[in-house]
Amino acid sequence: MNVALHQDTHVPRSAVDSGLLQLVQHGLGLKDKRLPSWLFYDAEGSALFEQICAQPEYYLTGCELALMDEYAAEIAERLGPDVRLVEYGSGSGRKTRLLLQHLQAPVAYVPVEISEASLWASVERLAAEFPQLAIQPLRADFTKPLRMPVAPRAARRTVIYFPGSTIGNFAAREAVELLRKMRKEMGEGGGILVGVDLKKDAAVIEAAYNDRAGVTAQFTLNMLARLNRELGTDFDLSAFAHRARYNPMAGRVETQLVSRREQRVRVGRLRIGFLAGEPIEVEYSCKYSLADFAALAAKAGLAVEQAWTDARHMFSVQHLVRANCAPA
Ligand code: AVJ
Repeated sequence: MNVALHQDTHVPRSAVDSGLLQLVQHGLGLKDKRLPSWLFYDAEGSALFEQICAQPEYYLTGCELALMDEYAAEIAERLGPDVRLVEYGSGSGRKTRLLLQHLQAPVAYVPVEISEASLWASVERLAAEFPQLAIQPLRADFTKPLRMPVAPRAARRTVIYFPGSTIGNFAAREAVELLRKMRKEMGEGGGILVGVDLKKDAAVIEAAYNDRAGVTAQFTLNMLARLNRELGTDFDLSAFAHRARYNPMAGRVETQLVSRREQRVRVGRLRIGFLAGEPIEVEYSCKYSLADFAALAAKAGLAVEQAWTDARHMFSVQHLVRANCAPA
């Protein structure tokens, strides 16, 4: 197996974990309480997310898979031969597999993932299936500058794959910042292949974040369970409710944990007070029109070279390249 693990020199989120308590105390000390959405993804949360993807209301996964199924060959053709494929975050690997099956002589596959367990799981899956492929896992926080491993041979271009509409978790300004960073990392002739969820009927979007089986609610509440496990906080899970609403003005789902009653919670040496009905903001899931996303990309000095969408315009997979008159 052609695998070498690169440790990033920059401080990753897991190293911040020693500062997890401070981070949580800070977020809950704000006037408008908030916690970052990456806190969802401990082992438990990652497993719950996989379950969300299988819920009938959560259209994103099925739509993106169907798009990749239909267009992977065409997309691979667009990306060209001798690509170095860098993936931000590692999921179940199903979409990546479809892409790798069609890429012509990929130079290397570089999964970038903060969780060592998830990183190795994805490496194992793909190494078995693509024994010829050089896999260069990079354990790092993809929102920070990356120290890219040296490719085994010269790539014609670097393509950053960012599926799953994870870009939606970043508010517009952070999304532009992240795209700018990607633009730098992919280099002159490079590209970005990004999965972007599209604006649609608000009821369809809201249902996706409020599945009938209650898996999403469990996923949201797991953030507090995780803090109880890792920090010894005493959140009473029955005293908080999952709430996800589509804000059509902002074009995003806003997920909150709402305190069901007035209460105090021990967080380290602090006692954090909650009013009845007070929310903790835990996630944004931004939705874009094709025009919205093109404008966002333009702010990062990128142009949409092509966008693949399904007939019902549910989801999109977009290929971004450096814009000619790049401002950045
Ligand atoms: C993995 C970030 C794309 O925002 O749709 C699913 C996470 N949150 N249900 C999303 C999530 C609630 C998901 N992303």
